[in-house]
Amino acid sequence: MRLWLKFSMKILAIETSCDETAAAVIEGVAVTKPVRILSNVVASSEEMHRQTGGIVPEVASREQLKAIIPVLDQALAEARISKSEIRNKIDAVAVTVGPGLIGSLLVGVETARALAYAWNKPLIPVNHLVAHLYANWVGAVPELPAVGLVVSGGHTELVLMKDHGKLELLGRTRDDAAGECFDKCARLLGLPYPGGPAIAAAAAKILKRSDLVGKQQSPTLPRPLIRENTYDFSFSGLKTALRLASLAQGKPRELAHEVQEAIVEVLVERVVRAVEEFRPRSVLLGGGVAANLRLREELDHRCQMLDLRLFIPPKELCTDNAVMIGAAAFYNYSPIPWQKVKANPGLEIV
Ligand code: KG4
Ligand code: ZN
Repeated sequence: MRLWLKFSMKILAIETSCDETAAAVIEGVAVTKPVRILSNVVASSEEMHRQTGGIVPEVASREQLKAIIPVLDQALAEARISKSEIRNKIDAVAVTVGPGLIGSLLVGVETARALAYAWNKPLIPVNHLVAHLYANWVGAVPELPAVGLVVSGGHTELVLMKDHGKLELLGRTRDDAAGECFDKCARLLGLPYPGGPAIAAAAAKILKRSDLVGKQQSPTLPRPLIRENTYDFSFSGLKTALRLASLAQGKPRELAHEVQEAIVEVLVERVVRAVEEFRPRSVLLGGGVAANLRLREELDHRCQMLDLRLFIPPKELCTDNAVMIGAAAFYNYSPIPWQKVKANPGLEIV
């Protein structure tokens, strides 16, 4: 625990790793207290990517460039910080340095470097994947150690978080990420991008859990690696299995439901196994896929049975945002000279 972090601190945080341009001002009071959101602004170029069925990196970075200044302006305005007050009211700047798309990351990193230099403020580089877990420190203070699952469009990582800054990697995907699997399977089923919400909506339309009782006893799709003695994941085979199933039975809604069940079951089983082995005090979920209702309810149910506290961010903090960047920076406060802060697209969670 960092005892020197006793005083209130306001951090301006910037996130531009993919197709969201986000800025937020958060206030941290102590490591034993949750952070407070003073502003939270997210501009997304998702609509453009819907038209192309996925993210085109050049388009994403061009949109980042257009959005960054208006988004920053709005984040400061919503936090009621006028231009003349910035130097007095903002204590530090935090920015996502990776992983992500290089063109997108650079927009945030270069902006943050320029601001830290111009305002003469400390600059804290933040790992986007770790930050997804810190979205849980907004309304609460999860007890550590914790088992954390980050499930996003590009990553699926299971970690043991022993303390702030002390993470151990337990497993990760060997191929596609869980969100990527949702996105690719949605495309196969003719559903729009992003695939996660589209599959969830299609599945919810016809299939409540009770509708299935007695109807679908055995799964149509495999649960990859579920019986293997590993914390790794593998989702790429699900696409092929889905393609074959869809050729054979062609029922898109049932298949959407089945894809969701397969992904959720694998994710939940891995978390439960890690909990049984490491006996943490909390379970933390984070990343865009954490917005999935079936995953939330299934994990909630299992954690209740294990008498374990589960933390899941509100939906708007599951997908990319800058509040989580500010929170990660506050609890791991370690600024470095702005000259040394560099974008690192291949940065790993540990
Ligand atoms: O964390 P995120 O916003 O961006 C990355 O860092 O990747 O995650 C985006 C991913 C996409 O793959 C999207 O399909 C998935 O999160 N997603 C969902 C849901 N909402 C977003 N997946 C399943 N169910 C959802 N409700
Ligand atoms: Zn993300």
